[in-house]
Amino acid sequence: MEKILKDNFGRIVNNLRISVTDRCNFRCTYCMPEEGMLWLAKDELLTFEEITRLTKIFSELGVTKIRLTGGEPLMRKDLHLLVQQISCIEKIKDIALTTNGFFLDEQAEQLVHAGVSRFTVSCDSLNPETFETLTRRNYLHKVFEALNVIEQLGIRPIKINTVLIRGINDSEIEDFVELARTKPYIIRFIEFMPIGKDDGWTIDKVVSTKEIIEHINAMGKKLIPLTSNHQPLTTNHVEPAERYKFEDGIGEIGFISSVSEPFCSSCNRVRITSDGKLRTCLFSLIETDLKFLLRGGAGDEEIKEIIINAVLEKEEGHLINQTGFVRPERTMSAIGG
Ligand code: 5AD
Ligand code: SF4
Repeated sequence: MEKILKDNFGRIVNNLRISVTDRCNFRCTYCMPEEGMLWLAKDELLTFEEITRLTKIFSELGVTKIRLTGGEPLMRKDLHLLVQQISCIEKIKDIALTTNGFFLDEQAEQLVHAGVSRFTVSCDSLNPETFETLTRRNYLHKVFEALNVIEQLGIRPIKINTVLIRGINDSEIEDFVELARTKPYIIRFIEFMPIGKDDGWTIDKVVSTKEIIEHINAMGKKLIPLTSNHQPLTTNHVEPAERYKFEDGIGEIGFISSVSEPFCSSCNRVRITSDGKLRTCLFSLIETDLKFLLRGGAGDEEIKEIIINAVLEKEEGHLINQTGFVRPERTMSAIGG
């Protein structure tokens, strides 16, 4: 019988997110402090060969979709070479990249040729000053250059991740809506989660999906639903975002209600950190050290068994809204968003 990754709650895992570095050239306030981050040493990072080997092992367990993340994944030199290696793995059907966009204008074409088929660019503000407040960098123009380049290359979909924080960028809902209406972008509002170090998270700073939808309705813009969300226990078309289009627009709006209505019951993903730890949930408090196995000479079958058993124990869901919730020690940049 073919081996697959299935957890104790019947969810089938086919989606692997791989963080290739914990470093980033931005300092988003909700993700990491301006100074004092301790980066992993180079030899602690998985090599491209190790990542490729793990990807092949996961693919033999049913994983077909890969997303490369960071930190900022394009801080890893020659990332396209890793993409090339992964795209040669027969069962991998889809390679996506989540990036802050800074290096994307120069690397996009190379990455597409190597096999990246989908990009998600993070952008939390369309106003240069607010962008700088949020990221501690004055680089909004670079994000727009990146978006233009991928648009010109004809890559679709182009997703933009936006985290709204009350009092900081929540006044920009209308601007983002206008961007999604007039450009071929899918703007995904992700609810602010308590995960970074010193991220200033409190529940009242979370701008919920419900609130954003009410705001858009009040603008008189009719949203047409594209997905019915939260289909449990299937590996087809499971996605965390509720998606909408406009009557009169090009792009789309998506909502990821990670706090108010988590998609845990249909979660089909696991993550590998840049130092080779398997995490079965963003909020996991335990990790499985795959790098130790790789470097200790373990064979593929042995590694598969360990992965199968770790996935079996995948957390039912996060407990953000409940007492007893414990934040993971890693920052988002060290987990891989
Ligand atoms: N809450 C919600 N989203 C977050 N991201 C990073 N930290 C958080 C958080 N605390 C998002 C970033 C990026 C993606 C990798 O994860 O905005 O788009
Ligand atoms: Fe960098 Fe992304 Fe963290 Fe911002 S959220 S500091 S872009 S890793």
